[in-house]
Amino acid sequence: MDSELKEIVDQYDPKLPLGHASTIPSSWYTNKHFFWLELETVFARSWQPAARRDQVTESGRYVTSDIAGEPIVVVRGNDNVLRAFFNVCRHHAAAVMTEAEGKAAQLRCPYHGWTYSLEGGLKGTPDFSGVCDFDRASNGLVPLELTEWENWIFVKVSRDPAMSLIDFLGEELVAQTSALQLTDLHWFERRHYHFDCNWKVFVDNYLDGGYHVPYLHKGLDSVLDYSNYMIENGEHHCLQWSPIVAEGAEAQTGAVRKGHRALYYWIYPNFMINWYDGVMDTNLVVPRGVDQTEVIFDFYFPDVVSEHARRQNLASVEVGQRIQDEDVAICKSVQRGLNSRAYNTGRLSVRREAGEHLFHRLLHADVTQE
Ligand code: FES
Ligand SMILES: [Fe+2]
Repeated sequence: MDSELKEIVDQYDPKLPLGHASTIPSSWYTNKHFFWLELETVFARSWQPAARRDQVTESGRYVTSDIAGEPIVVVRGNDNVLRAFFNVCRHHAAAVMTEAEGKAAQLRCPYHGWTYSLEGGLKGTPDFSGVCDFDRASNGLVPLELTEWENWIFVKVSRDPAMSLIDFLGEELVAQTSALQLTDLHWFERRHYHFDCNWKVFVDNYLDGGYHVPYLHKGLDSVLDYSNYMIENGEHHCLQWSPIVAEGAEAQTGAVRKGHRALYYWIYPNFMINWYDGVMDTNLVVPRGVDQTEVIFDFYFPDVVSEHARRQNLASVEVGQRIQDEDVAICKSVQRGLNSRAYNTGRLSVRREAGEHLFHRLLHADVTQE
């Protein structure tokens, strides 16, 4: 790590307890060298959602994604085994699969037509006779680790650390999510949101323990019980939850946010599972640049087939959309402020912001590891 970067990293003291702690410094949100350090130490080394299970149920089904700046493809082989590869052609590095998802009999690179089997082996190399010492067997797509949990397929770009996803999540979180029977829910729709801010601004906003809800999200605020909003930190996750109140609910929100409680699980660093009485959406926060973030929302419901349910589901997605629209402007405003010479760090609310404190300490641990 060069000295300028080290100076930035060392500005944060992870040992201070919440009542004494400040946020991570603004340079962590604005410095592009720090951003690259995060791709390498936070994103490449963590299990990242790369596909939903429902997308790759049959042989030949594949999904492409971008993790820690790396092109990735997840594909089910003819042997029914699910595999992940770097989506990088061994010839001259073009992306082999260019659609977001689909079904293919083989994986064909669009550049010079090299083909790979669904199991990643190099098959066809047009006009390649006369090439000496070329070992076809060692020129298959480069594999990476893959694991499955609940409704998702996770991959890890780097071999280190070797911790399994289940060990990382921990027994408590695994038991809690298992009790919610998430795998009974069906995927309904995906929406992409673009935020003009660093990815951590979005995560901080999510983890502020409902602090911003009464001010920014009047509709959502009308169904949550703000004074009983709870924050529970695990080792690598934070659960925020709130009782749901029907009385006084704003009509549009109240119609689709029912039941007893709302659960908001954040899994370090960038995956969220939001659950309301048998309805779920997930957020995957994808860093696109030091001040550009894409958030991929997937919405799941118990019934995605009947006409009545579809109408209700769409109404629920629209409420989610409104909340995101309300967050887009504030995240942009925060990013601008983080660039100001007037700001470096801010203090944390002990009542509300324990999740952010956990997030910042985990980040510090990652960016300082060798
Ligand atoms: S880069 Fe893929 S075939 Fe040439
Ligand atoms: Fe919000």
